[in-house]
Amino acid sequence: MEFAHGLAKALGADIVDIDSKVFPDGESKIRILSDVRNISVILVQSTYPPVDSHLMQALFLGHRLSEEGAEVHALIPYLAYSRQDKEFLKGEVVSLGVVVRLLRAVGVKRLITVDIHGVEGLGYFSFPAYSVSAIPLLADFFRTSFALKSPVAISPDFGASARVEAFAKALSSQFVVLSKKRDRATGEVQMETKGFDAAGHDVIIVDDIISTGGTVQKAASIAKSNGARKVYAACIHPLLVQGALEKIRAAGVDEVIGTNTVPSPVSKVDVTPAVVSYFQSLK
Ligand code: R5P
Repeated sequence: MEFAHGLAKALGADIVDIDSKVFPDGESKIRILSDVRNISVILVQSTYPPVDSHLMQALFLGHRLSEEGAEVHALIPYLAYSRQDKEFLKGEVVSLGVVVRLLRAVGVKRLITVDIHGVEGLGYFSFPAYSVSAIPLLADFFRTSFALKSPVAISPDFGASARVEAFAKALSSQFVVLSKKRDRATGEVQMETKGFDAAGHDVIIVDDIISTGGTVQKAASIAKSNGARKVYAACIHPLLVQGALEKIRAAGVDEVIGTNTVPSPVSKVDVTPAVVSYFQSLK
């Protein structure tokens, strides 16, 4: 809600009033109060936990807006299920593909998200879909908020290397890519360092998502045992489930910083400027 209001203010757009409630059994009910006939609407709904409720709310809204003849642009700052963008193990559902079909079925005409897990995921969309990056804003926050000494950005896995490279570029720092292997059946994470020397450096672990914190915890232990001076964790989407923050802090991380694609105690970076730039580029 706060996100939508900030965006509307920045874009000079009106707010569509809605009434929504969640019943005790978890079902959502949504009512649109404003007249939305034949207008363009930016439907803002992030799909952080409870993931499926938030996703259903986005679908309900998209459906009703479309029925009223509105052109629906779905802004889903955190797009749930984007990590399951492949059949990693035989027989797995490609969840992202199903989410795309659902969005399309309710009449969504365009999808805008922030730092989708993998840009390959955009290939599933049969309508225009864009991922705007908040990495420069995140890097800017680090540059202006902390007195970093000889910073090194590290990526916990190869898949995130483009992201950490962009972060390091924006911060004018070095970057290192670690090698992470996750057991697809148990979820257990293993990490290799390949001669990473953090002695005397401030290390910033950069990832798109912090969920249980297991990945950052491993990377932080490696950084600490390799002599890092201070260890920071930076992410776009701070889901922070199952005591992630406590776990990460116990692993020696000094500060955890995320963005407001997901509300949390560490959502310090506002991604609105990146989203506004995207919409302004359409004019
Ligand atoms: C996975 O590839 C993502 O980029 C994150 O590294 C992952 O989702 C983090 O999950 P967790 O915090 O549970 O280790």
